[in-house]
Amino acid sequence: MCSIIGYSGQLTLAAPLLVESLKKMEYRGYDSVGIATLNKGNILVSKGVGKVAEVDQQLHLNELPGEIGIGHTRWATHGGVTDKNAHPHYSCSANIAVVHNGIIENYQELKVELENDGHIFKSQTDSEVIAHLLELNYEKSNFNVRETMTRTFERIRGSFAFVAVFSNGTIAGARYDEPLIIGISSDALFLSSDVLGFLKHTDQAIFLDNGDIVIVENKQYTIFDNQQTIVNRPVTQVAWELGSSEKGKFAHYTIKEIHEQSETMLKPFVTSNNFELFCKYLNDASNIYITGSGTSYNSGLLGKLLLSKFAKKKSEVYMSSEFQYFSDTVEPLSVVIAISQSGETADVLHSVKRAKEKGAKILSIVNIPTSSLARMSDCYISLDCGPEIGVAATKSFLNQLMILYNIVCILSNNNIKFDSKERKKLQAMIQTVLNLDNKIKTLINSLHHDLKDIYILGRSIHYPIALEGSLKIKELAYIHAEGIAAGELKHGPLALIDKESVVIVLNPNDETYQDVVSSTNEIKSRGAFIIGISDLHNDLYDIFIELPKTDSYLYPLIEIIPLQIMSYYLAIQKQLDPDYPRNLAKSVTVK
Ligand code: M6R
Repeated sequence: MCSIIGYSGQLTLAAPLLVESLKKMEYRGYDSVGIATLNKGNILVSKGVGKVAEVDQQLHLNELPGEIGIGHTRWATHGGVTDKNAHPHYSCSANIAVVHNGIIENYQELKVELENDGHIFKSQTDSEVIAHLLELNYEKSNFNVRETMTRTFERIRGSFAFVAVFSNGTIAGARYDEPLIIGISSDALFLSSDVLGFLKHTDQAIFLDNGDIVIVENKQYTIFDNQQTIVNRPVTQVAWELGSSEKGKFAHYTIKEIHEQSETMLKPFVTSNNFELFCKYLNDASNIYITGSGTSYNSGLLGKLLLSKFAKKKSEVYMSSEFQYFSDTVEPLSVVIAISQSGETADVLHSVKRAKEKGAKILSIVNIPTSSLARMSDCYISLDCGPEIGVAATKSFLNQLMILYNIVCILSNNNIKFDSKERKKLQAMIQTVLNLDNKIKTLINSLHHDLKDIYILGRSIHYPIALEGSLKIKELAYIHAEGIAAGELKHGPLALIDKESVVIVLNPNDETYQDVVSSTNEIKSRGAFIIGISDLHNDLYDIFIELPKTDSYLYPLIEIIPLQIMSYYLAIQKQLDPDYPRNLAKSVTVK
């Protein structure tokens, strides 16, 4: 879950371009940053701990001379967050430097071998073995870059994409289970983890296949497949809009993305999305599995409930990291709905691969149409919510739900109303709730500043929203939060409740209302502070956040908004950076 970039061209000097690219891809990891440039035959490396802008300010990364270079932002897996463990990593002779995304599983064995051969390691990372292996193979192959890359590729195991710069002016990259994309303009070539790394300069991209090696020299690129044969891969034109991501009038991407939901929520229905085909696959399926991670799993949970309640379709939903343990019943007539904002989450891709091997059809709901997931799918529906930069999923969650509601509407022959008129009404309601921003901010500021635990209660279709709300609070505000199925309280969690507890109840006036009121009474009598989110006031609430009245099945789409806004202000209250929560990355491309 790091970002890597390689650049060779005449557009500008390498360093400022690399720094800009890394800022765009920082969502992939932001523990440390570094670049290497080639200047007069010497490879210069500058790197340090912190976000790109911080390290650039301290070390003046963008002043490193040279027209060719590589860069990296890190999400630490092997070795602490230190300057030494930051990439790029040099070979011993400093005539090669490398940046890597992924995990080299056999690095310990390789390291022992390389150390026995006299190589000296400077970091604790798995990645550094690539630099030394390249050096070893460069010498063995009489300085032939192609052979060096092939031999190195053959030795390493795991999931990886790496880019190396050689002191002879070549840059070369390889990928296996991690993305690597070539950006092609008339003046420059890029090797990048994400199109965002070069989209400012070109919209022409080649998505390398697993096992591909690319060599960039003399303004040309050559791709070799895993049989070492030169191959042509198709050039794709990517949408420029993917690169448009400014904060505008907002202090953070997270709150900007929360607020743009009233606009982005209708986007999946503007472009021609594959709803009919998607539903046909579901109708033909012998069994339906739903999978996703984190927020995308939570939307899958709601999807399962809606499919069962309104379309009378049975499905199973599994977290992608758990899917493999439940996949024995997947067979050729099965259909897997994979939900993912990025389309690059390793756990999701791994589940999908497994299901594909068993002959299942893959349907995905994904934001990035050029992602690995979209390309592995038999049919996909695009979230179309534009780039989501904040690490917390907000607008992508709402669009996942919008798509799931529409699928259920089609499959149930309009058992729920979700046509364009209803969606417009819903949009107005979401805007009404977004307008509560200031009220929610005041509410959060009125709570004491040292909250230790927050519980969110909900039943039925509100339970997945309780889980999602608690995920947002944990991730953004570093406060322990738990979504609890209200009926489960008495089976254990009630023991946690005391006068210090803050409990949010999701309690629209529907079939769950009375039961949730009973649970709220039980909590209230233990002295907890209650925040009620509902269309109906109740004296049990210490604070009431009023939702507009609508059809009961639509409440999940509305009640998530105040939870997102609350999480944001809880982070602000603690002076945290909500866009880049500690220890996390937007795109989790390691298992
Ligand atoms: O890109 P994906 O939807 O596959 O990402 C899955 C999770 O990593 C993601 O939803 C994560 O839980 C969010 N940061 C939560 O806000």
